[in-house]
Formats: sequence, structure tokens, C-alpha cells
Amino acid sequence: MVGVRTEDRKVLRVLSGEAISPPPAWMMRQAGRYLPEYRETRAQAGSFLDLCYNPAFATEVTLQPIRRFGFEASILFSDILVVPHALGQGVRFVVGEGPRLDALTGRAEFEALREVDDPAIFTHLAPVFEAVSRIRAGLPHETTLLGFCGAPWTVASYMIGGRGTPDLAPARALATADPSLVEALIDRLVRVQTEYLIRQFEAGADAVQIFESHAGVLPEGSDALARWSLQPIARMIEGVRTRVPDAKIIVFCRGSGIDGHARVVPETHASAVGVDWGVDLAALRTRLPETTVTQGNLHPETLIAGGAALDAEVDAILEATRGLPHIFNLGHGITPQTPVAHVEQMLARLRREA
Ligand code: CP3
Repeated sequence: MVGVRTEDRKVLRVLSGEAISPPPAWMMRQAGRYLPEYRETRAQAGSFLDLCYNPAFATEVTLQPIRRFGFEASILFSDILVVPHALGQGVRFVVGEGPRLDALTGRAEFEALREVDDPAIFTHLAPVFEAVSRIRAGLPHETTLLGFCGAPWTVASYMIGGRGTPDLAPARALATADPSLVEALIDRLVRVQTEYLIRQFEAGADAVQIFESHAGVLPEGSDALARWSLQPIARMIEGVRTRVPDAKIIVFCRGSGIDGHARVVPETHASAVGVDWGVDLAALRTRLPETTVTQGNLHPETLIAGGAALDAEVDAILEATRGLPHIFNLGHGITPQTPVAHVEQMLARLRREA
């Protein structure tokens, strides 16, 4: 971080608590299939994982949306599932269907995973750090570079279920049947991913986002959100800051509702809370201290719709966060069918060029 003039990077400034008007913007999944240039690089690279592990291609697709739209933040192109892969689990992506992992159903598969101190984990992940360095070198100076990883519960749920299931039944069932096994898995993920995030910072990331995409479906029991989601995230954040003091970390706890969103910063000490599209941002803001940094939360379907509905939702987000530290984003990832022209419309409205 030495030598970085953070005052030029608006997303970092907001993460330090400053309100900027208009708010700086980026989009979750901003490098993706809605962009023709992404589809072209993807076709050259081979499989999705080949793209993730090839630093030249990963750098190229990360920079594409910056060149086209000038977003204020760039997010490393990779996937949350490279970490289970690095732990030795079988991971592949089936075109049109999504991720498939060799499901972890009991102790035997857990015992077969690499231990945290096994150097092979970070040898496997070396192309990711190489990509971070190359992206930083290729970005405009004022663009904030975000690294990321999945939250332990979300990653564990894929490891256990072997795929994304709507209600995460396999992960919840195992957490109920053998909670100590799921706790051991989450503990492994906390420790490995703390080191993973630290190394992303060391390679050139300015800030990181932790994706808890499955906060909405947690096991039964008292305060499941704290036990399975917020506390493991808090341990990662504390661990990262022992090596990267004052590290800026955004936590996106999708599906946790307005009450869950209000708990993210107090209970994890994140620098910002990422807000999903299901939460009323204006209502959430009235419940948060003015110093709390928010990010979000345009509905990806409004971006598909475009037109007056899109302008109105951009305006509503600006109104809800006026004078407050906020980073403009979607409330979940952009989808492949979104017209590029609607992204341009959104940014023009935000930046008041229209
Ligand atoms: O935001 C970004 O642009 C950075 C890159 C990024 C990807 N995945 C690229 C990707 C990030 C941050 C992720 C995180 C991720 N991956 C999450 C958490 C965020 C979320 O969306 O809730 C999850 C749950 C995954 C696991 C995953 N990866 C799934 C379920 C899928 C299939 C869904 C789909 O859209 O096909 C992926 C594949 C994936 N990850 C794609 C991209 C661009 C599409 C792959 C392709 O090009 O075919």
C-alpha cells in the first residue's frame, strides 16, 4: 500500500467515510457475458476456470468494463470457488448450468482437504495474485482495485452441496446433523481465506469484498446469522487487519433482510455494508449511523428494463444516500441478457450527463 495516493481513488475515500456526490460506481459481475468483448475472450480462453487461472486473460476481462464505462472500481476477475479447488476439492463449471463440486458429505472428504499451512494451496492460487498485480499495473491510477473471496458459510454450502441448490438443503442438513464438522470446515475456510485476502492486498488490491451470497438460508437455531455468517466473517476481518492495518473490507450479506444488513458493520467491523436489492435502502439508512458506509442496490431487473423505471431507481438511490458515504452498485450481479445501452443510461443518469 506504500506510495498509494488514496485521495485519488474515490471508492477508497468513501470506504474511509467520505460522502462524494455523485457517488462512485461499480457493478457486481461487471466483467461478464453481457459484454461482447468478454464473450470473445472467454471463447479464446477455453473453460471458465481456464480463464480464471490465466493471468493475461483474467487481466484483460477485468479491464474491459473499465475501458468501456470508466467505473470508479475494478473487481478482480476470478470466482469464490477457486478456494475449495485450492484445498484439493474437485471443481468444474458446466456451461449453462453453473458450478459442480465433488460434494463433501462427511469426515472422510473433510480429512482429505489440504491443511492451512500446506504451501500447495497458495501455489495453486498464485495466478490470482499475478492477475491482481497485472490489473493494478493496467488500471488508471484513480481506479480502486477490489479483491474478493466468498464468506465461509457461502463457500462451505457449495462444498457440501456440490452445486448451488435453491434452499441449500444439504449444507443446512449437515450443519444440523454434524455441527462440529461444519464448524471445522468453516474454521478452515476462515484461516485459509484470511491469508488469501492478505496476499491479494500484498499483490496490489486497494480493498476487498466478502460475498455472503447465501445469508438468506442458514441452518435452524438461535441466532444462526451470527453463528454461521457474521462471526466467521468478523474473524477473517480481524485476521486480515493484523497484517494489513486499517484494511478496507466490504461485506455483502445477500438475503439477510433489513435487520441482518443493519448488523453487518457492528458485528463484523466491516468498512461498508453491501446492500442487496431486496432491502429498502432509504429505510435501512434511517436505521444506520450517518458514518456507516453503504453500497448498492439497484435491482438487476431494473437494469434489464431500462427506460423511465431505471432513471427513477437511480434517483431513489441518490435521494436515499444524499450527503452520506455511499458507493453506487447493483443489488446483485448483472445478468447476461442486460443491454449494454442500459448500463450507459444508468451511468449517465448517475453522473447527470443526461
Ligand atoms: O463481480 C465480478 O465481476 C468479479 C468476478 C466474480 C465472478 N464470480 C465471475 C463469474 C465474482 C466476484 C464471483 C463471485 C461468485 N461466484 C459468487 C458470489 C456472488 C454472487 O453472485 O452471489 C458465487 C455464488 C459464485 C459461484 C458461481 N460462479 C456461480 C453460481 C456461477 C454460475 C452462475 C452464472 O452466472 O453462470 C459462477 C460462474 C461465474 N462467475 C461467471 C462469472 C462471470 C459466469 C461464467 C461464464 O462466463 O460462463
